[in-house]
Amino acid sequence: MADETIEALLLEQRKFPPSEAFKSRAHVVGTHLYDEAAQDYEAFWARQADELVSWSRPWGTVCEWNLPFSKWFVGGQLNVAYNCLDRHVEAGRGGKVAIHWEGEPGDTRTITYAELLAEVERFSNALKDLGVGRGDRVNIYLPMIPEAVVAMLSCARIGAAHSVVFGGFSSQALADRINDASAKVLITADGGWRRGEVFPLKPQADEALASTPSIEHVVVVKRGGNTVDMKSGRDHWYHDLMANASAKCPAEPMDSEQLLFLLYTSGTTGKPKGIMHTTGGYLTHVTYTHKYVFDLHADTDVYWCTADVGWVTGHSYIVYGPLSNGATQVIYEGVPNHPGNDRLWSIVEKYKVTIFYTAPTAIRTFMKWGTQEPAKHDLSSLRVIGSVGEPINPEAWMWYHEHIGRGNCPIVDTWWQTETGGIMISPLPGATTTKPGSATFPLPGVGAEVVDENGKVVTKGGGYLTLTHPWPGMLRGIWGDPERYKETYWSRFPGRYFAGDGAKLDDDGYLWLLGRVDDVMNVSGHRISTTEVESALVSHPSVAEAAVVGANDATTGQAIIAYVTLRGGAQVNESDLRNHVAKEIGAIAKPKTIYFTPDLPKTRSGKIMRRLLRDVAEGRNLGDTTTLADASVVTELQQRAAQSSED
Ligand code: WTA
Repeated sequence: MADETIEALLLEQRKFPPSEAFKSRAHVVGTHLYDEAAQDYEAFWARQADELVSWSRPWGTVCEWNLPFSKWFVGGQLNVAYNCLDRHVEAGRGGKVAIHWEGEPGDTRTITYAELLAEVERFSNALKDLGVGRGDRVNIYLPMIPEAVVAMLSCARIGAAHSVVFGGFSSQALADRINDASAKVLITADGGWRRGEVFPLKPQADEALASTPSIEHVVVVKRGGNTVDMKSGRDHWYHDLMANASAKCPAEPMDSEQLLFLLYTSGTTGKPKGIMHTTGGYLTHVTYTHKYVFDLHADTDVYWCTADVGWVTGHSYIVYGPLSNGATQVIYEGVPNHPGNDRLWSIVEKYKVTIFYTAPTAIRTFMKWGTQEPAKHDLSSLRVIGSVGEPINPEAWMWYHEHIGRGNCPIVDTWWQTETGGIMISPLPGATTTKPGSATFPLPGVGAEVVDENGKVVTKGGGYLTLTHPWPGMLRGIWGDPERYKETYWSRFPGRYFAGDGAKLDDDGYLWLLGRVDDVMNVSGHRISTTEVESALVSHPSVAEAAVVGANDATTGQAIIAYVTLRGGAQVNESDLRNHVAKEIGAIAKPKTIYFTPDLPKTRSGKIMRRLLRDVAEGRNLGDTTTLADASVVTELQQRAAQSSED
């Protein structure tokens, strides 16, 4: 982020304390949770695990910490699906709505806790009938339909680990993830609805399945109605399996450290990492944060998180956190502008949503669409609104506050990562005075510090965000690659978890997140590595070399800018190359702009100068270019960039 932006952030003086009305019924007011956790964070987490989660066997040790490997609630046993379903039904809340589902075309489903449990029991048996058992991996590639939740909870119920792949990823990306995990079963759908049309999933899956030898069975949910090929013996319709499966599947106790899921995320190399999350600690972390960060009152609130289940936000704050807390929530299948730009606000009004959780990139898009869109609807049910995925700029924060929160909803700007499992830095809405653009403070139970280059703690000013002690939802490693786990997160600052984010502390000790400091881009809140896109580009037969940078973008946070050198004599146009990247990774990774250049700027030792390319892409003046092997390359690129911004 440019220095001017940092300065602007630090000049942000507006403060928003929680209102008396909000405080009067909030779970947390004042500092008691912070004080308790500061005394003994392990004892604090143990109390949360005890109060918020049901265990079939108590744990012996709260935390076993062999840096960088942690185990939580060791010796304890529990079942995640039991916690998300059975216990609510047993307590007499089976008739409570778990999910108000809204399909993009306007069809709806209302699913109670008792109904969701029944569906999960049946599907758990269906998976068992296909030979899935404890320790197996199951891939999930589905649209935002209730079956995605059913599939995840069914895996949890029988002790199989799920690996959900976002429906927007390409068949190649799906195949890579299936193969890395050696998954036995793939659960997909014919297609789903998006922007008024059916997008095919099964045909994509079929392409992937040509190179995934570990897959024995494929389960297909009927949603899009598009025609699909079903390979006999391997492919099964979900509804057929359900019709034949038996109804009862008691939840079996799982070890607290049993693998719950893998979720692949981009790192600084081309190969995505399978982030591992386990059972007891993860469930404790997401249940606790979902309850306190959103001030959830399960009896009266209607909660809505607009993420996709393909991302960690969907795992922790659509599936596990809300259901473990017995919340009623909305799940929406489609895009925010179908049929009109007010679709989300019409859903808030329709279901009287009280808690709304979305991403800054969405908020900036709503800003572009104009205030008349939310103004068409009664949003007075809202009482807490949240943000996740990237830094929220003060303008977007203020717009969210005024036009969605109508000036009286606390905003929780929540910082966390796929790796952290749950929210780490965030206000507590009844306890924290917020400042627009700041995620404020680490939650009770979380240790975070900013350090400088040398790992020295910074108490004011900028540096690198680190986490100082283990937490229950932390990743347990990278699937199949413990060395990469140590190297990526624990080697840069010994004894500390390095998040990869820059951060700054202001005079009042508020934390301001400043974006990634590594080669990971954040495009619309989605993590994509520069190397991944570069390898996709270079895999095109016409491309000799490629360099990719993330440039600041007013809507998407960052935009992908590629510089490409073609092989001698080769020709390819920009849109073909963009489509090639979509095919390799997925549409989210398509470069916004591709510049063709006879050469890339390199140091004399041959290293591509990304910083310089970022400066070019963002139209900044270049500093010293004397280390460049050939400075004329840059001059030419600059001229081209200036031209294209005039077009
Ligand atoms: C960024 C998403 C600033 C950050 C839950 C982090 C944020 C990466 C915020 C993780 C926030 C997430 N403010 N930046 N409130 N939340 N980030 O794994 O760079 O998809 O490292 O997890 O998103 O992205 P991931």
